[in-house]
Amino acid sequence: MDSSLHESPATVSMPRGSRWFAGMWVTASAMLREASEGLAGLLGVRIVRLSGVDRSEIEAHLLQLDPVSRANRFMGAVDATCVRRYVAGIDFTRDLVLGARIGLSLVGVVHAPVHGAPGGPVAELGISVRARHRHDGIGTQLLAATVREAREQGVTAVQLRYLASNAPMAAWARSAGARISRAGAECTAVVSTAPAAPAVPRLAT
Ligand SMILES: CC(C)(COP(=O)(O)OP(=O)(O)OC[C@H]1O[C@@H](n2cnc3c(N)ncnc32)[C@H](O)[C@@H]1OP(=O)(O)O)[C@@H](O)C(=O)NCCC(=O)NCCS
Repeated sequence: MDSSLHESPATVSMPRGSRWFAGMWVTASAMLREASEGLAGLLGVRIVRLSGVDRSEIEAHLLQLDPVSRANRFMGAVDATCVRRYVAGIDFTRDLVLGARIGLSLVGVVHAPVHGAPGGPVAELGISVRARHRHDGIGTQLLAATVREAREQGVTAVQLRYLASNAPMAAWARSAGARISRAGAECTAVVSTAPAAPAVPRLAT
């Protein structure tokens, strides 16, 4: 876990009383989050659009990924400074940014920067789910919601880069009917957002 998350200069220079209060506040909000996550079965998972007010939560989510997950997410080893710079650069007016919440906790994030391409705008998707909430279908829900959102925003395709060894991503790409290409250890999956053509009824002869 990245300890620098808890080392803000503001905390260091605070008077003792305020420091105690800040400490209590952090503990209380963490307990509240834990409690609300504990009620996950009752509260369920909500897939939501994220905005600028969620930026620090997105940063905390990405910073708590273990090294392997972080490398899978960013397609290579990146340090905390890179992650912070990446989050600071998210353009919420242009990109698709979705979150999965259980109670108050942000347990999954999709950030898909949208850029122009010859066939129409393409969203390049990055996804992560907090380790303790994996294998529960949250990633699948986030991905489905992103494809829907992309379609609604006029984005023609969602593209995902992942390592060939990333079993969940390979499973999703296959089940989403993606066009998959592979270059060495890296795969690229492209999912068209066009709705499937309706089945044409056969004419009676
Ligand atoms: C990839 C990731 C987002 C998946 O999140 P998740 O919530 O566990 O995903 P789901 O539970 O919806 O599972 C997705 C699919 O992968 C399969 N799957 C999940 N974990 C698996 C595993 N370890 N091995 C094989 N298949 C697995 C599931 O069966 C499911 O396939 P299905 O729809 O055919 O049943 C999560 O593992 C993660 O955050 N990884 C680190 C970041 C990353 O790799 N990002 C992708 C590149 S940007």
